[in-house]
Order: sequence, then structure tokens, then C-alpha cells
Amino acid sequence: MHHVIELEGVAKRYDSGGAPVLGPLTLSVAKGEALAVTGPSGSGKSTLLNLVAGLDRPTEGSVTVAGRRIDRWGERALAKFRRAHIGMAFQFFNLLDDLTVTDNIQLPARLTGIGRRAAEARADELMEMLGIQKHARAHPGRLSGGERQRVGVARALVNRPELLLADEPTGALDTASGHDVRDLLTDLHRAGQTIVLVTHDPALAAACATRTIQLVDGRLALDTGAGAAR
Ligand SMILES: Nc1ncnc2c1ncn2[C@@H]1O[C@H](COP(=O)(O)OP(=O)(O)O)[C@@H](O)[C@H]1O
Ligand SMILES: [Mg+2]
Repeated sequence: MHHVIELEGVAKRYDSGGAPVLGPLTLSVAKGEALAVTGPSGSGKSTLLNLVAGLDRPTEGSVTVAGRRIDRWGERALAKFRRAHIGMAFQFFNLLDDLTVTDNIQLPARLTGIGRRAAEARADELMEMLGIQKHARAHPGRLSGGERQRVGVARALVNRPELLLADEPTGALDTASGHDVRDLLTDLHRAGQTIVLVTHDPALAAACATRTIQLVDGRLALDTGAGAAR
């Protein structure tokens, strides 16, 4: 089986004397899997996601994503790798309010050197798919939270990443918008997208994920196991 993520003995420590905030942890995520990462606040969920995204480096162990071992790479190589292979959606969207919706979505494509016409076409396709086409020329500040998160997810998908990472994507949303984002993630998973979803909402995990892990104090307290597509 092809694994999109392979973590081997990964640990992250901020204070050399103290206990690691994460790990040591060994974990693989297969292509097409939708993994929910749950656990209390401070249990290491965001740290795990940041290590997988190459936003942070482990103190120990190896991090292999999309077939590349990235744990010792420098910033420039990691930034390029992220743009090409990883899409990220965040709790507070991280959209640029000076840019229109379509320009926000196109940005990662333009940064990888894709031409304007092709980037526009890809953004149109995603906005259509996510039901936000009518907001293409609006600025994100004018949109509802649920719509903004759709823009965030569209931007994350613009370069067709092998892996979609979402850190509490419904954390800032009202219930109805949260359900929209839940349905969106479920649809993406059904379409074959590999997803790692950090959430402390068990209902979201149950709805979107084919597998759930739980972290407690940086350790794997539960893993419902790989396998079984929905
Ligand atoms: N830059 C940092 N420096 C020191 N400690 C950190 C840093 N980032 C996170 N931590 C600590 O690591 C632990 C795990 O944090 P985090 O991964 O953000 O947890 P979660 O996302 O599950 O709430 C927490 O105890 C947090 O305080
Ligand atoms: Mg977190």
C-alpha cells in the first residue's frame, strides 16, 4: 500500500530536559485515508500536523510525506514542497483580505509558477465544486465563516495536493457552517482525497474520518486502525 505519511519514532521536544510534547510516535497514513486526530487541548495535535506539513522539524525520528523524507530539509525546500504536495486549511482561515476570493485561491498556484489563465481555470473549477463561484470577486471579509472556510479549502486544493491537512477547520464556525464544512470534507474524501483532520469534536471525526487517533500528552492513546474505506 502506498503511504502518503510515514512517521518513524517521531518526537518533538521544546525543552531538552523535559518530556516531549509529542511522541515518540510511529504512524502511517495510506493514500485515500481520512484520519481524524483528536485529543484534549495541548495534547500535541497541531504539533503533529506541523511536523507532517514541514512547518516544524522533529527532535527525533523521520518524517516521510508523499515519498520524500523531509525532516532535515531547509526552509526553502520545505516551502516549495508544501506548495506542491500539501494543502492546509486552518481554524481562522488565514485568507488575505486585500485579495479577492479568486485571487486568494489562485495564490498558491501562481507561487508555483502556474500561469494566470491556468490558475484562473483551476480556481473556477474549485469555486464551482464548493459552491462559492458567486463570491469570486468579493473580498473574504464580506463572506460568512462557512464560506470563508470553503475559500480556505479551495486554496488548499488548488495545486492538487496529495495531502489535505485541516486544523480545527470548524473551530470558528457556527453549527450550520460547521456542518457544511463537514459535508465538504466528506465529499473530498469520497473523491479520493487523503485528509488529516485535527478536531476535538468527536461528531466531526465520526462523520468525516475512516480512522481516528487520539493523542493524550503527546502519546497515541487510541488508534481505530488503518483500512476500511467508507
Ligand atoms: N513553540 C512552542 N514552544 C514551547 N511549547 C510549545 C510550542 N508549541 C506548542 N507547545 C506546547 O506543546 C504542547 C502541544 O501543543 P499543540 O500541539 O499546540 O497542542 P494541541 O494542538 O493538541 O492543542 C502544549 O503543551 C504546548 O504548550
Ligand atoms: Mg491545536
